[in-house]
Amino acid sequence: MSDELPHEPHKRRPRYRGTHPRKFSEKYKELQGSRYRDDVEKVLARGMTPAGSHRPVCVAEILGILAPQAGELAVDATLGNGGHAFKLLENILPGGRLVGIDLDGIEMARTRTRLLAAGIPATAFVLRQSNFSALPSILAGEGIAGADCFLADLGVSSMQIDNPERGFTFKHDGPLEMRMDPERGLSASDLLATISEVRLREILVANADESSAAAISRALCSRRGKLRTTLALADAIRSALPSCPKGDPEIVKTIRRCFQALRIEVNGEFSALETMLSSLPSCLRPGGRAAVLSFHSGEDRRVEAAFRDGFEKGMYSSIAESFIRPSREEQYNNPRSSSAKLRWAIRRDG
Ligand SMILES: C[S@@+](CC[C@H](N)C(=O)[O-])C[C@H]1O[C@@H](n2cnc3c(N)ncnc32)[C@H](O)[C@@H]1O
Repeated sequence: MSDELPHEPHKRRPRYRGTHPRKFSEKYKELQGSRYRDDVEKVLARGMTPAGSHRPVCVAEILGILAPQAGELAVDATLGNGGHAFKLLENILPGGRLVGIDLDGIEMARTRTRLLAAGIPATAFVLRQSNFSALPSILAGEGIAGADCFLADLGVSSMQIDNPERGFTFKHDGPLEMRMDPERGLSASDLLATISEVRLREILVANADESSAAAISRALCSRRGKLRTTLALADAIRSALPSCPKGDPEIVKTIRRCFQALRIEVNGEFSALETMLSSLPSCLRPGGRAAVLSFHSGEDRRVEAAFRDGFEKGMYSSIAESFIRPSREEQYNNPRSSSAKLRWAIRRDG
């Protein structure tokens, strides 16, 4: 078995104008990472995430908490690029099994290929494209009474954020999509075409503490039906704010918060998280360990409250007293890890 999860198999290079690739699809060498390892190393050394990949966060801390052992059953509820799943599998094999869950069928197919290419036997893992809110029925469907180790690494992956076709980024233009599973529910564009101004304001406040929520929701609703691309949305948000230079950091932060708030709404992230957290104790074996990585206060508040509630009701024997942050070194090497907060809980024994 290889030490690292390999990149995707080789594909032909697309042509681009000029000396440097600009579009995501032109970042050929990063997208073909196993063939162009030196180029990937250079991107990593600049503290960036190579296109088409995701750098797993707090791996050592998570392995320390979950303490996966050979023969155990692990659940990765947010499979993504499979970085954490691969590390869990390395520890539970031989004899163990991993259930990987993700809403994103596009990335799941790639991750399956790379797990197999890394030498993980097909019998050692099962991947389910599903919402983790359905955790109890997913485990029941696999005949699993409870997991020894459980991980949820919340939010979106770098592959999803960086690919303009997925509509999560305002760095490049793309369709205003934002669905983790593009086959279900409403895209951000369709949501903005139908939502009321009052409801939109509530979403911006509840999901991102946006102080300019009233002006922004008014501006977005005045362009109802016309917000079809990520840059059109970014421009509409900008139009609601006092005029400042285009790259003004405060404006960029506001646009980022609005994108986050919409993404949370489009994917029903908070209700899925609450449902999953409330069923989690019954999905763990006695003594089973759970770790949840969150990336903003709306997520961490819910994780903290659910773990405390489970502890007070005697379902968990112990929980994290406070959150764990990525080391300074990790934050420096991978700036996308810097907002991460890790919490854990242990199921009561017997
Ligand atoms: C931060 S990434 C996980 C990265 C992964 N740990 C790795 O090492 O590559 C989060 C993933 O969770 C998925 N996701 C988010 N909410 C979900 C939900 N409610 N149900 C299932 N998957 C979800 C996203 O599609 C995304 O692939």
